[in-house]
Amino acid sequence: MAKIKTHFACQQCGYQAPRWMGRCPECGSWGTLVEERPTAPAARGGSLRQPSAAPVPVTDIQRPALMRIPTGIAEVDRTLGGGVVPGSVVLIGGDPGIGKSTLLLQVAARVAEQGRKVLYVSGEESAEQIRARAERVGALAPELYLVTETLLEAILDHAERIRPDLLIIDSVQTAHGAELESPPGSISQVREVATRLLTVSKERGISTCLIGHVTKEGSFAGPKALEHIVDTVIYFEGEGQHAYRVLRVTKNRFGSTHEIGIFEMTEAGLEEVGHPSRIFLAERAPGVTGSVVVVTMEGTRPLLVEMQALVAPTHASFPRRVVTGVDGNRVAILVAVLEKRLGMPLSTCDVFVNVAGGVRVTEPAADLGIVAAVASSYRNLPLDPGLVCFGEVGLTGEIREVRHAAQRLHQARHLGFTRCVMPESRDGRPVEGGEIEVWGVRTVDAAMGVLFP
Ligand code: TYD
Ligand code: MG
Repeated sequence: MAKIKTHFACQQCGYQAPRWMGRCPECGSWGTLVEERPTAPAARGGSLRQPSAAPVPVTDIQRPALMRIPTGIAEVDRTLGGGVVPGSVVLIGGDPGIGKSTLLLQVAARVAEQGRKVLYVSGEESAEQIRARAERVGALAPELYLVTETLLEAILDHAERIRPDLLIIDSVQTAHGAELESPPGSISQVREVATRLLTVSKERGISTCLIGHVTKEGSFAGPKALEHIVDTVIYFEGEGQHAYRVLRVTKNRFGSTHEIGIFEMTEAGLEEVGHPSRIFLAERAPGVTGSVVVVTMEGTRPLLVEMQALVAPTHASFPRRVVTGVDGNRVAILVAVLEKRLGMPLSTCDVFVNVAGGVRVTEPAADLGIVAAVASSYRNLPLDPGLVCFGEVGLTGEIREVRHAAQRLHQARHLGFTRCVMPESRDGRPVEGGEIEVWGVRTVDAAMGVLFP
């Protein structure tokens, strides 16, 4: 009998070695190398053995008509770019307990209510537990099939029999192929599971959703091992201590990666949050110093959030810069611009910057808001509570234009704001604000004049 070749693979980074080692030479983790036996080539599924078709000119290839199945949950559909694509595989990652199973059960029910077949495979909970959850979130649809199974071959059998439009695997870490001796959840197992489900999904036109738990290190177990295999990668995240959950897409072969979906975890499952700005501004106290509302874009949707700053004399030898919700380097630059261009002696002050509600803002359009909040706290002067601002701030103190100005203004007006400080348009064309008073500025200096009249 031929000797079966095995190798040892690091469960952190995927590094492979012919023999066991205590410490991975690649990523330095201890005790992460696990013995893995590769599958014999003959046992592998289909597509690899098929001869490939001859290469053809790109112009001769027909553009596929991209069909999508809307899930009926608007926040999910927007995040995905309009719905799930038949034959595609979506990976949904998140911390344990964040609500992945709840979300997908709700998606499953909405799809099943459209008369499509859905198969929900759980390796984590019993069918009774899932039924109880389904009652709680209103997901009792006859076309929704449940099964408790962890063996990949059995899952594929069920899929073959039921022929679902949507297949949900909860979770990819509990599913395992029989031919592989590595334990469930190991790199080679999750890869095997994902690859074989991908092949079956493509062949049968099934949309497959894989649930993946994020490990402590912040990546999917079998770290990142699946991201290149699947078509779409979505993370379901909690924001701070709040009941809000954000669906964020980081890879999408069938759409943009800029969209987010916002939900609130309630007694009856996840509820869509249609007007997130209202929530993020709900606890705002008007007339306090160091607070301003900025209009940021999350994908195609403007989002109004409260930027807060606290500037206080420093008692340490180095002034502190503590930042949450925005980029720390960005804040350091803006503080330097305020020092140099406006002469604010901030090097003797601690500066704290926070985005209220636990939101993350990555856009440079928030620059003007950071500058305004810091200046307001430093000067101990509150800003007009009806005011919003946005604009990128450059190193020379210039205010640069940002995209989607009209949409931002529209949203601010919609939420009842009365004044907006924003970049003056380059062509000198005045921006139409309607009921909102628009102040176009070109420099930080000019902005200060308008913010603190
Ligand atoms: P779950 O979907 O099981 O999380 P995951 O699959 O990501 O591990 O959700 C777990 C949490 O959600 C749990 O702490 C209870 C809470 N929850 C609610 O608050 N309301 C609900 O209707 C449901 C179903 C769960
Ligand atoms: Mg779960």
